[in-house]
Amino acid sequence: MLKGRSLIEPMDLSVEELKEILDLADKIVDNPLEYVDACKGKILATLFYEPSTRTRLSFEAAMLRLGGAIMGFSSANSSSAAKGESVADTIRTIACYADIAAIRHPKEGAAKVAAMSTDMPVINAGDGGHQHPTQTLTDLLTIRSLKGSLDNFTIGLCGDLKFGRTVHSLIKALSRYSNIKFVLISPDELKVPEYIREDILIKNGLEFEEVERLENVISQLDVLYMTRVQRERFFNEADYIRLKDSYILDMEKLEMAKKDLIILHPLPRVNEISIEVDKDPRASYFKQAKYGMFVRMALIIKLLGVEK
Ligand code: NCD
Repeated sequence: MLKGRSLIEPMDLSVEELKEILDLADKIVDNPLEYVDACKGKILATLFYEPSTRTRLSFEAAMLRLGGAIMGFSSANSSSAAKGESVADTIRTIACYADIAAIRHPKEGAAKVAAMSTDMPVINAGDGGHQHPTQTLTDLLTIRSLKGSLDNFTIGLCGDLKFGRTVHSLIKALSRYSNIKFVLISPDELKVPEYIREDILIKNGLEFEEVERLENVISQLDVLYMTRVQRERFFNEADYIRLKDSYILDMEKLEMAKKDLIILHPLPRVNEISIEVDKDPRASYFKQAKYGMFVRMALIIKLLGVEK
């Protein structure tokens, strides 16, 4: 039963529950008009203490397309956080007004604190460099829709694997499917954190390799997940400048890739995929952004328990 629950990290959902959400998202994709009143009378609050385009607006579009209403703030400055209010107090207050909330915060664990402070369902829309479970739902729906399955493929994750929360959540979620090989492509300084390598990849006996050069591995990949170097999480601007253009996917590199590769990116892109790649049929990142809205529609319906 998903009704009334919060979603803080991908492992909060069993594989069966994940499937339930993705199956509902498929139905919504096929027949969106059937759901236009599903959340009538309900309110979603979006509490964003960090910048966002897709996540916040896809949540809001999702709720609006379900006939619900939305409210919220899009920066810490415009909320009482600027006066020193705690996340716990803010969420208790919001729970007096809304039925469900999505929260994004620069501190790891903030969404969990919020969820523990209320009975209202709370969705983690990104907590610092930690987790981003609804981006993962988006990624899974995209892979399943375009590849037909969540088993049996080689995925390359490229870029900032240290601070990239979308990468951490995606690896966790994919660790439970069969026969997936992970190729982790990053500069030495931006490798996946120890808890992902030890507690997820090694502990579960998953097949993975860590490499520095995209050119050397691109030909083996079925899915390539590009990411942005997370400037806002660096302590030192000089390090960011040195590492920011470590990878640029261009047509020359794509020459070596499989014809049925899919290229994903949670977006925003900075320089890591050159614009010329957008025209290639393998570029799937804008489709991915659209799937993000549908999967959030499914998630909201499930957590509110309003499925017909
Ligand atoms: C990602 C995020 O916020 O972690 N963006 C998103 O939600 N689509 C990725 C990023 O900011 O690089």
